[in-house]
Amino acid sequence: MIDLRSDTVTRPSAAMRAAMAAAEVGDDVFGDDPTVIRLQELAAGMFGMEAGLFFPSGTQSNLAAIMAHCQRGDEVILGQDAHTYKYEGGGGAVLASVQPQPLANQPDGSLDLAMVEAAIKPDDMHFAITRLIALENTIGGKVLPRAYMADAVALARRRGLAIHLDGARIFNASVKLGMPVRELCAGFDTVSVCLSKGLGTPAGTVLVGHGALIDKARRPRKMLGGAMRQAGIIAASGLYALENNVARLSEDHANAQRLGKGLSALGLEVDPVQTNMVFVRVPAASCAALSAHLANAGVKAIAAPRMRLVTHLDVDEKGIDLAIDAFGSFFRRSAAAD
Ligand SMILES: Cc1ncc(COP(=O)(O)O)c(C=O)c1O
Repeated sequence: MIDLRSDTVTRPSAAMRAAMAAAEVGDDVFGDDPTVIRLQELAAGMFGMEAGLFFPSGTQSNLAAIMAHCQRGDEVILGQDAHTYKYEGGGGAVLASVQPQPLANQPDGSLDLAMVEAAIKPDDMHFAITRLIALENTIGGKVLPRAYMADAVALARRRGLAIHLDGARIFNASVKLGMPVRELCAGFDTVSVCLSKGLGTPAGTVLVGHGALIDKARRPRKMLGGAMRQAGIIAASGLYALENNVARLSEDHANAQRLGKGLSALGLEVDPVQTNMVFVRVPAASCAALSAHLANAGVKAIAAPRMRLVTHLDVDEKGIDLAIDAFGSFFRRSAAAD
């Protein structure tokens, strides 16, 4: 099966599994797992940050970052479409008692910085205390360029706020822009970096940032159940991924372009493709039949009126062509029936 549901579906390669099997481990709750320490140091170094902290998931890393930046009753300004706002169970509100102030994402995925500034609350007892801005890059497969990231950092600094980045797919942005992550993310206080998306590990996220903030994030990580013991076995997959799977993200981007072009050639409406995500419009009435047809043809995908297809290291050009053919046979068949 070609699985285009997400880049989270990848299976660890034989070489990654070998690295995991050979990992030297300790007890990371005591802070002495050497492989976790190496991963945290490598990730922090790549981002030009002082420290890193290993988490089981991106959801937990984002939440622990919010808890490190904010107190109960503080506020975070973030996008209406941000994963941290929309897809993490409302953890910031539920578990951290931090009020989200969502703003509409613009078509390019950014937040209008004038709107961000206008949403910062004055120092008045009626309001929550605005403490944090949180951005996401890539967002919906779209890249926030460095100039925008720098402007957001400058706004945060000018208004005395902290700034966090959900960088679940920051390496896709970095590869697309041809810019090292340390440059792209310069000025952010914390960045949450997923290893289990395009980078292909079975699990794991590293939160990188200033030393004092990362130290603060240790308590919420423990509280949330994310402090693991012989975590070096998982961390080894992260080390392998950072050392071997970053530059190859360009192949996923090329495959996404190929898929986008192939679907456009079938007459389907496809959003411009930037990284590893393709969004294609499908008539709502066709979704159930399309899912079944694709599955029969060996393609796993979630059909929706704005359907997302994601490329990753377990899909090659041949798989992409198979998916294009499967869409083609479905829409030719439906046209014949009309
Ligand atoms: C942008 C973004 N941030 C955070 C996460 C959360 O990661 P996890 O699934 O590891 O909790 C995801 C997961 O898909 C994501 O897409």
